[in-house]
Amino acid sequence: MTRLLPATLENVAIAAQTIRSGGLVAFPTETVYGLGANALDTNAVARIFAAKGRPAEDPLIVHLDKAERVSLVACSISDVAHTLMHAFWPGPLTLILPKQPQIPDLVTSGLDTVAVRVPDHPLALALIQAAGLPIAAPSANRFGHTSPTTAQHVWHDLQSRIDIILDGGPTPIGVESTVLDVSTHPPRILRPGGVTREMLEAVIGPIKLLKQRGETVKGLPSPGLLEKHYAPRAELILFLGEGAGSALTKYFLTEKHARRVGVLAADEDAEALEKSGAIVYRLGAGLTSIARHIYAGMRWLDEQDVDLILCRDFGESGLGLAIRDRLKRAAARTIHT
Ligand code: TXA
Ligand code: MG
Repeated sequence: MTRLLPATLENVAIAAQTIRSGGLVAFPTETVYGLGANALDTNAVARIFAAKGRPAEDPLIVHLDKAERVSLVACSISDVAHTLMHAFWPGPLTLILPKQPQIPDLVTSGLDTVAVRVPDHPLALALIQAAGLPIAAPSANRFGHTSPTTAQHVWHDLQSRIDIILDGGPTPIGVESTVLDVSTHPPRILRPGGVTREMLEAVIGPIKLLKQRGETVKGLPSPGLLEKHYAPRAELILFLGEGAGSALTKYFLTEKHARRVGVLAADEDAEALEKSGAIVYRLGAGLTSIARHIYAGMRWLDEQDVDLILCRDFGESGLGLAIRDRLKRAAARTIHT
């Protein structure tokens, strides 16, 4: 039985006790909802993989309530890493650091590194603090599905598979944290996310972006870089390039008679599409709003039972890079214009 609990102090205490006794608690962070367990307890962590249907070779992020506790989970922390923690924690930046031996191999999929972050969400911080433990937490969705940005999304994917869902309302950022490997020079973004490339470069200078396809990390494919991931049920087509907007409209007009078509659209594009009969999910105006709503939009269109979801690219500056990354992984097909 999964309990869906509102965010009260009492419920945070109950959830913390559940974590301490080896249970699973979904909780909001500033990015997406996480599915948390005691990071030091192999059995508890194993339950995360089972609940999500996640393969064991996909390592988890360990969440702390304070940067000062990083030495509990990681060691040999470089100056660059310290600078980044100071600049961006609490916040949506996950650092890949050499792991402490006490972190179970299951958390890191046998790697000698561990992914760590301090989330910038009062409920997440209260839970970690009350549990008094580092909390391992992937996004709280079934493996391969879009990440959850509301407690209802978590309920939809994981009801009956986990102990508690703490409902803290919609998550403000809406895409996952930036995963940064600081063991290389320059550091490399393994997954673009809530802290943008520009923000990182303003603090530590040039960084590299991991190539989207084919490249591997220390011999293993970086698991978060599965090409098909974060996907809605309906087939999603992404339109890239200068003519993306008009190509999308044209595609819609030819497909609309044959299939039920949904569109994820920024406000500026929405009205024209609605007038021509599309089922439109409005992402709002600007990259912050688009990021916040992109996963909810995919889930909403699935609920409308569409066969096809169309979306255009929103560029690569700021949060645009993370949005593009998730759309590419969600897409069955990308059309370059
Ligand atoms: O915003 C987020 O990061 C959310 C919230 C809940 O914190 N969590 C999240 O976790 O998105 P998950 O498990 O869905 O994604 C974790 C990513 C994966 O891409 C995984 O491959 C990568 O982090 N990762 C974890 N440990 C790693 C390691 N030691 N080396 C390289 N990549 C690692
Ligand atoms: Mg995930």
